[in-house]
Amino acid sequence: QITACLFDLDGVLVDTAVYHYKAWRDLANSLGIDFTEEDNERLKGVSRVRSLEIILEIGGQTLDQEKMLALCEQKNTEYLKDVAQMTPAEILPGVVDFLKTLKQEGMLIALGSASKNAQLILERTGLLGYFDAIIDGRHVINGKPDPEVFLKGAEALGVQPENCVVFEDAVAGVEAAKNAGMRCVGVGEPETLAMADIVVKDMTEMSVARLRELGQK
Ligand code: BG6
Ligand code: MG
Repeated sequence: QITACLFDLDGVLVDTAVYHYKAWRDLANSLGIDFTEEDNERLKGVSRVRSLEIILEIGGQTLDQEKMLALCEQKNTEYLKDVAQMTPAEILPGVVDFLKTLKQEGMLIALGSASKNAQLILERTGLLGYFDAIIDGRHVINGKPDPEVFLKGAEALGVQPENCVVFEDAVAGVEAAKNAGMRCVGVGEPETLAMADIVVKDMTEMSVARLRELGQK
């Protein structure tokens, strides 16, 4: 039986995945590294510094710690310029209706995000009030695909992993959910998110009936 829903943020609730991509692509290009949308799939769900490591791997480059931290700062500054312009219009389709339905049904709701900007984004888009617990990049040591972020979310809600469903758009995030022993709804392409229990295009395809079905699986 499903009693709690754990949501990833970027690319599931809000349309920030495009801003992350733009900021990383510009930074990669400034280092003389080509960075495609396909490369970008590897960055989804992983921490800021790990994202930079992957870009440097793609470019066959290495940099010292200090330079890496400076580049992470630079990327975040660019990213935050887009975040500062964000409005509730950037909430993805079906999200608000689905969150409202979950509340009416008495489901518990938590955030499980790698982002250190999660709280700020939830505030800007007016989504903060829906969450019973928030676990984000400031609270975890091990990034996705490690299950830590979702296990901490379940613990904060006081529910067992088998009673949780995770919503994820990232390959690393789907893996994290599975590693946590939770059901997982992939948000995106079925080919990319093959490990998820079901895959939807967006939250307009979700309903409480579908959650219940997932609980029977
Ligand atoms: C994840 C995104 O949600 O958060 C990643 O999918 C991002 O692309 C990561 O790198 C960390 O985010 P932030 O906001 O702390 O740089
Ligand atoms: Mg995501």
